[in-house]
Amino acid sequence: MTAAVLTISDSTHRGEREDLAGPAIVTLLQQKGFVVVSRDVSPDDQGRISATLIQMSEVAQFIVTTGGTGLSPRDVTPEATAAVCDKQVPGIAELMRAEGLKQTKFAPLSRAICGARRKSLILNLPGNPKGAVESLSTVLHLVSHAIDLLNGKTSHEKMPGIVF
Ligand code: MTE
Repeated sequence: MTAAVLTISDSTHRGEREDLAGPAIVTLLQQKGFVVVSRDVSPDDQGRISATLIQMSEVAQFIVTTGGTGLSPRDVTPEATAAVCDKQVPGIAELMRAEGLKQTKFAPLSRAICGARRKSLILNLPGNPKGAVESLSTVLHLVSHAIDLLNGKTSHEKMPGIVF
């Protein structure tokens, strides 16, 4: 499966802060068998984020963003993501927040969303590198089946643990 990783941070984009979350996400995705075909760093600019997500959705089945999901005035990642998605998958973001709460009481402050643009799945993660990796780990087991569904592969016959 192909993946793309977008770090969203004004200070990282200006070169003032090292991008730790992006490389950590790339490493986890590669360990799990994804081929990371695109990487970028964007400022917290809604139009720019949306444009980059559209480009990434042309080449990657799974797009992961990190940062900009909170409440500060410049945090617009969820809005930029929602603007390019055909449908949202609220359960994935809900699961991330529920699991995140076991690590930090601040997990509900992330407004991260998950959604689909055409046949690509887009997932927002918080900007904190540890939080980003933890959050991704809690939902990664859902990604391949979600992408199958986006591609019209609706059979659950070979899904372990599903009994009809
Ligand atoms: N979730 C996990 N698992 N770990 C974290 O450290 N940080 C929280 C929350 N979710 C965090 C987390 C905090 S403090 C904030 S403000 C929000 O994510 C939004 O972070 P962001 O603006 O960097 O995306």
